[in-house]
Amino acid sequence: MSSPSALRHAAITSVGHYLPDERLTNSDLEAMVETNDEWIRTRTGIRERRILGDDGKATAFMATEAAREALDKRGLTPDDVDVIVVATVTPDMLFPATACLVQDNLGASNAWGFDLSAACSGFLYGLTTGAQFVETGRADTVLVIGTDKMSSIVDYTDRTTCILFGDGAGAVVLEADEDVGLQDTVHHTDGEHRDLLCMEGGGSLHPPTHETVDNHMHYVHQDGRQVFKFAVTRMADVCVEVMERNDLTADDVQYLVPHQANQRIIDATAKRMGLDSNKVMVNIDRYGNTTAATIPLCLYDWEDELTRGDNLILTAFGGGFTWGASYLTWAYEGQ
Ligand code: COA
Repeated sequence: MSSPSALRHAAITSVGHYLPDERLTNSDLEAMVETNDEWIRTRTGIRERRILGDDGKATAFMATEAAREALDKRGLTPDDVDVIVVATVTPDMLFPATACLVQDNLGASNAWGFDLSAACSGFLYGLTTGAQFVETGRADTVLVIGTDKMSSIVDYTDRTTCILFGDGAGAVVLEADEDVGLQDTVHHTDGEHRDLLCMEGGGSLHPPTHETVDNHMHYVHQDGRQVFKFAVTRMADVCVEVMERNDLTADDVQYLVPHQANQRIIDATAKRMGLDSNKVMVNIDRYGNTTAATIPLCLYDWEDELTRGDNLILTAFGGGFTWGASYLTWAYEGQ
């Protein structure tokens, strides 16, 4: 472990991912609930999502696969990892933490770790949290993983939510760099509207009973119209704020990396920032909303387009409410 230094930025030095093979298309959903491809595409931008299925694999499995790929690409071994931060709202179980399962799956014998619950903002919060271990010199190699098996908490009889979500995981390696890496973050939490997007059942307030199951309390509940109104303004506000306080104009920003909840929210955010659509990472059409995994999955898909020093704005909005934006400079050349 190195001594603390003012020059340590936490840089993303590798990205890994995991997506299940099984696809759930809009036409598949037409057979399950009263909906149609045109409504889903125009209201959300989604064409299909990936589903992990029920063969005993869950969130920790996807996280492990994503982490393993990220380490391999960087030429690191699991023994090199100091800290594992797992952002998820669909842990394999309430405890032990998914991070413990990932640590064991990887055989990361020198690592400690924990889970972080911030819904769709989970990866953004995790990045800030993991970065601080690197920035202070308390750790040299940190894994930050966004992973969710949303199909395990989605009610496939509720057409307002089941069309939105998919399963997947993305993982990044954070290491110290003197120049590039995480530069600034603005994060917010506002619990006042917690009822608008939540899963009420299964916690200590409403432990599982026949009644909680009968009342569908172990599924995602969302008032989509209300959440949309908050998301579309808060996400844009926080992106503009992080740009202004770092003296960044739209020309200075190479890419916006937004949480993938709704194409219309992404478009409105880019417009407020003055960014053309070719500067916005979008994969919602292929994967839907994978909650904590959307941002690292975007980074994985766009990695080859990036060069060292590129200015990225990462942003998310999710249940809680939780939201924020981070300014990150990229560390390595695409292939
Ligand atoms: N297929 C067809 N019709 C549907 C439907 C579906 N899957 N789901 C809802 N509808 C209907 C509604 O019943 C409603 O009908 P009505 O006008 O007769 O009452 C109509 O479509 C419009 O519903 P509304 O909820 O106003 O649609 P919307 O334009 O707000 O889109 C969401 C719904 C969920 C796509 C959108 O609100 C959204 O993306 N919300 C925010 C999501 C988000 O950012 N979450 C935070 C991070 S996870």
